[in-house]
Amino acid sequence: MTSIHDEPTTTTSRAPLVFIHGSGDSARTWDPLIARLPGYECLALNLPGHGDRVDRPGPPVMSVDDYADAMRAALARRELAGVTLVGHSLGGAITLRMALEYPALIGRIVLVGTGARLRVLPPILAAAKSGDPAEVSRAHWDLVRLGFAPEHEAQAAAYFAALEPFAPGVYGRDLAACDAFDMMADLGRIEQPALLVTGESDRLTPPKYGAFLRDRLENARLALIPAAGHYAQVEAPDAVAAAIREWLG
Ligand code: COA
Repeated sequence: MTSIHDEPTTTTSRAPLVFIHGSGDSARTWDPLIARLPGYECLALNLPGHGDRVDRPGPPVMSVDDYADAMRAALARRELAGVTLVGHSLGGAITLRMALEYPALIGRIVLVGTGARLRVLPPILAAAKSGDPAEVSRAHWDLVRLGFAPEHEAQAAAYFAALEPFAPGVYGRDLAACDAFDMMADLGRIEQPALLVTGESDRLTPPKYGAFLRDRLENARLALIPAAGHYAQVEAPDAVAAAIREWLG
């Protein structure tokens, strides 16, 4: 297994699995899953302002389209094309956008805890955009706690405590990008095969969102993951890895 976290590489003609994390998160969210995908070349990228890009935040406002463009540039720097793009939550929105805009770069897509539209609970969005670090942190914890299945609250707390810092303003920027995202009417134009991974107990992007994607994407399979919420890649990495392996053949 090769697991790379946002490191430059000059190798060409490779088609690895490329992973994009969600709001306020980092490439590390994929560690448990990547550890269970031996034999696949995996590249987990950080969005601007996240993880090891904390010192390179980019502009104060970035839409899903802007993030998609940043990730297109990240693939181009590595001379990658035809990749399987795996996105979680906001990363899934970016994945959908990239599949539509850059079909030569994206061969297949895996959407974990994602929807074609990602409205955010208004009080959480307001707190995230407030600029007050304590409020931002409270909003972040509220969404992480709601994200994990109720029986995984201890895991949620440990996960939240271990999160890498992000640049100031980035969490509000991420949630605003989610809230404005809407590709419900565009799904029929996406041709790449898609695997949809949804935790059965996902309270942020419920199974209904996955079913919507399955019904409207041209070539999609839905994997419902038992005993997992919005962070299926962390809560049930064995089941998610098995679903991806089986789908990839
Ligand atoms: N796929 C399928 N259906 C969707 C959808 C998606 N991606 N997004 C919304 N819908 C549906 C809703 O279920 C709703 O259907 P209904 O009328 O049958 O109940 C309808 O479209 C309108 O939904 P929405 O635009 O989200 O507005 P709302 O007023 O119903 O709810 C929120 C707004 C914010 C309360 C709600 O989206 C929510 O609870 N979101 C989850 C919490 C959150 O913050 N998630 C973060 C995601 S990153």
